[in-house]
Amino acid sequence: MDKIKYTIAGCFLLLSLTAFSQTTELPPTELYRPQFHFTPREHWMNDPNGLIFYKGQYHIFYQYYPGGTVWGPMHWGHATSTDLFHWKEQPIALYPDSLGYIFSGSAVLDAANSTGLGKDGKPPLVAIFTYHNMDREKAKRNDFQYQGIAFSHDDGKTWIKYSGNPVLNNPGITDFRDPKLSWYAPGKKWIMTLATKDRITFYASPDLKNWHKLSEFGKVLGAHGGVWECPDLLPFEYKGKKIWALLVSINPGGPNGGSATQYFLGDFDGTNFIPTDTATRWIDYGTDNYAGVSFFNTGKRTIFLGWMSNWQYAQQVPTEKWRSAMTLPRNLSIQSAGGKLVLASTPVEEMKVIKGTTLNIPDNSWKKDLPATHLKNTSGSFQLDFTANAAEDFVILLSNDDAREVLIGYRAKTREYYIDRSNSGETSFEKGFGKKHLAPRLSTEKTIDLTLVVDKASVELFADKGCTVMTDIVFPKKPYTNLRIETTSPATIRQVKYTPLKPSMVSASLIPQ
Ligand code: FRU
Repeated sequence: MDKIKYTIAGCFLLLSLTAFSQTTELPPTELYRPQFHFTPREHWMNDPNGLIFYKGQYHIFYQYYPGGTVWGPMHWGHATSTDLFHWKEQPIALYPDSLGYIFSGSAVLDAANSTGLGKDGKPPLVAIFTYHNMDREKAKRNDFQYQGIAFSHDDGKTWIKYSGNPVLNNPGITDFRDPKLSWYAPGKKWIMTLATKDRITFYASPDLKNWHKLSEFGKVLGAHGGVWECPDLLPFEYKGKKIWALLVSINPGGPNGGSATQYFLGDFDGTNFIPTDTATRWIDYGTDNYAGVSFFNTGKRTIFLGWMSNWQYAQQVPTEKWRSAMTLPRNLSIQSAGGKLVLASTPVEEMKVIKGTTLNIPDNSWKKDLPATHLKNTSGSFQLDFTANAAEDFVILLSNDDAREVLIGYRAKTREYYIDRSNSGETSFEKGFGKKHLAPRLSTEKTIDLTLVVDKASVELFADKGCTVMTDIVFPKKPYTNLRIETTSPATIRQVKYTPLKPSMVSASLIPQ
């Protein structure tokens, strides 16, 4: 780092001040409130559930405890948006009942009314979730998780639980949860991808009510540092070929500690998932992207959303009114990196709805021995893009007036990206929080292509067109108003673009009443 001495110059200063002069200041209790990532107005949230696009609306449901800011009896909270950024919180969709708490799951449009649960010729939306039965758990039984369904006749507004629940009983596996539905067209059947302790079990059904087991996957493959949770099975097209990805969240056992999401690439033949190799891959190397799954019904696009936290400290983070945010919605695709296929994530194109005017920094304007660059913005929410020579080191320093800083960088020698949040702000709530996180560079291109999205209390790094991704949350008491880039050589960094990002979540529903 001491070699790094060139800095991007102060021309950021003037323009960025203007760009941010309109930003709504949130009250002090809203200190760490993201500006455009989804957060519930109040109380506890974890996994995204039942993600679906229908009739022009994106619906997110989520693990929600309306009685406090720590995990408790699980409900499905609900929010809707037409653009994935402006979210409106809706009434709670599913409440616990005598069968149990409502754990994670998914939702589909039952277009052909295979369930027979449609009404007046209109197909139903069907949600599937895990019931977690506390009485059985307390009685030390091993069958306390099983699957139930609910359906909606009003486009997802309200939900009716199916009277024949549960639709899939537990065969005696303590962790038996998080069903993700997909329609397997060649076999004309529904597939349920279920996390079953240390592996994935696939089930099939003609009607979402009667299920039979197809196969198991993963007992001896991938990372096993913790329990397997929240899977997703996704088809992709790559150069005219079909490739399947299987996402599996694990907790703990992530590459930088705690919760994380691994994935496998391979083939799904309607019964078995056949992996192409035995490699362990991670969709995101940061510590704060967990339990992420895709939206149903988005055509050729695969849109992914994760929970931007980690079970290692999720219940201790220093927000008062609410706990947790979702990640940026991301577009998933198969890309080639270093001769291997990877599942890449990039921010969805809808992000344009929150973008202010991009400032292009001319390549040569900063190659002078100028004082440290100061990007002065008041909200701490912006996007930075640039290209860099992969043979040189660079570091982006975001700092605030409390001398707190987060470092996002690349080390050419080890071919590693990193985010160092050791001195990023409030870190004392959990001993493992204030650490430096590493991620391998998978691409072997000579030029790095980098996008960084900062939203007050989070940093999302998309390197090499999303082949390496890192998501980390941070808690600076004052926004990161200063931005500086340092490199080992003045020619390393090019095409720097700075884009202010506008708040989309500071809506009437979020301002304390
Ligand atoms: C993942 C998870 C799921 C479970 C839910 C409970 O974060 O543990 O496996 O369904 O959270 O809230």
